[in-house]
Amino acid sequence: MSKIAKLHINGSQYELPIVEGTEQETAVDISNLRSQSGIITLDKGFKNTGSTKSAITFLNGEKGILRYRGYTIEDLSEKSSFLEVSYLLIYGELPSSNELANFSNEIRSHTLVHEDVKSILDGFPSRAHPMGVLSSLVSSLTAFYPKSLDPNRSIEEINGTIIRLIAKLPTLAAWSYKNRMRQPIMYPKNHLDYTSNFLYMMFGLPTVETEINPIIAKALDKLLILHADHEQNCSASTVRIVGSSHASLYASISAGIAALWGPLHGGANQAVIEMLEEIKNQGGDVEKFINKAKDKSDSFRLMGFGHRVYKNFDPRAKIIKKAADDVLSQLGINDPILDLAMKLEEVALNDDYFKSRGLYPNVDFYSGIIYRALGIPTDMFTVMFALGRLPGWIAQWKEARENSEPIGRPRQVYIGHNHRAYKNISDR
Ligand code: CMC
Repeated sequence: MSKIAKLHINGSQYELPIVEGTEQETAVDISNLRSQSGIITLDKGFKNTGSTKSAITFLNGEKGILRYRGYTIEDLSEKSSFLEVSYLLIYGELPSSNELANFSNEIRSHTLVHEDVKSILDGFPSRAHPMGVLSSLVSSLTAFYPKSLDPNRSIEEINGTIIRLIAKLPTLAAWSYKNRMRQPIMYPKNHLDYTSNFLYMMFGLPTVETEINPIIAKALDKLLILHADHEQNCSASTVRIVGSSHASLYASISAGIAALWGPLHGGANQAVIEMLEEIKNQGGDVEKFINKAKDKSDSFRLMGFGHRVYKNFDPRAKIIKKAADDVLSQLGINDPILDLAMKLEEVALNDDYFKSRGLYPNVDFYSGIIYRALGIPTDMFTVMFALGRLPGWIAQWKEARENSEPIGRPRQVYIGHNHRAYKNISDR
């Protein structure tokens, strides 16, 4: 028998259906509340609002569980590859070896971008942040593939856009770095695997033979898997909501990149390293920064700490911490920033302010340390996050379109002036 919730407002009773997910998550469906009662619900930042039913990613913030399509992040990051995980997220099942080979080959054959993209890139000053460049270049792809403007075209057309996006994002990301460095761009080398090809385009120079270190490529592949999806976060919700207006997949992903950029979301990985460097430059006084973070009159927050849904621990942070240790020891790097990070973590984890609010290190706390060890410059960190998150955004966009979700359009409680008579400028 279907369950219902009863809501009493001003003497009237409304019956609202209860929706249950496959992991027994329970929601009250209020979609018809306004038409029945004229009343809406209010939930700033959507802290308690489910925006959709989704079969892509399950996470349980209290228990620290994260699964893509039912498979644990621990298994996937240990045993799988980024392209395999991308296939899983987008198409719903792990690929057979044939399916994976076809998928990889298709991606390999679309890594080049139109030569005219280079003139758009040339228009950016070298100081341009690579996230802004990346978002703009992805949006510009609509100009080269105008058929993609209609997201209701055939599955084959949509698939073409999906393949192009996965294939071209590393090229565009590496080129946004080359623009920053004012170095010549490198074209993809398609005999390389996905991650190595990106590293080649990023660090390669036309004048020298570039060898890609397999330890670095493997570590980066793992990081991409860990970032591949995270259900209805700020950027995924952005992608879904932009897609809900029937904007193209390129436009929706470009908007997702912009949403990811902010320091409260993906931009935190850059902010963590900047914060650790600041602590180091000021003599390594961890306590001072902890106190600043606790001081409500100071806007400073401990970057890389806290999460909207993980209030116990972030399972990705656990895996990344171990990966950071492994990579640093394999590469023989001794980074004083890592020691500082461990000290900060220890102090914060034993502090009542952080304990009582469930503030633990999140995925970004350690990812920046690995990126540094891999030689990736600080302002490219969030670009790395975007590379990893791409298949998740695509899967979220595709699911919303396949479910014919309506246009995203929240309501509001208006708190401005009531009707006022217009005053002529001479009377104001
Ligand atoms: N340092 C100090 N205090 C904090 C922090 C922090 N990093 N995070 C939250 N708080 C406090 C906050 O001041 C509030 O205190 P009080 O209850 O006294 O007012 C309480 O904890 C709850 O914070 P909130 O802002 O209401 O929580 P939220 O769920 O809206 O925000 C967050 C989550 C991730 C935006 C926030 O924890 C934060 O700003 N963290 C630092 C930025 C960061 O590391 N972001 C990366 C998130 S992981 C990558 C991703 O998936 O995007």
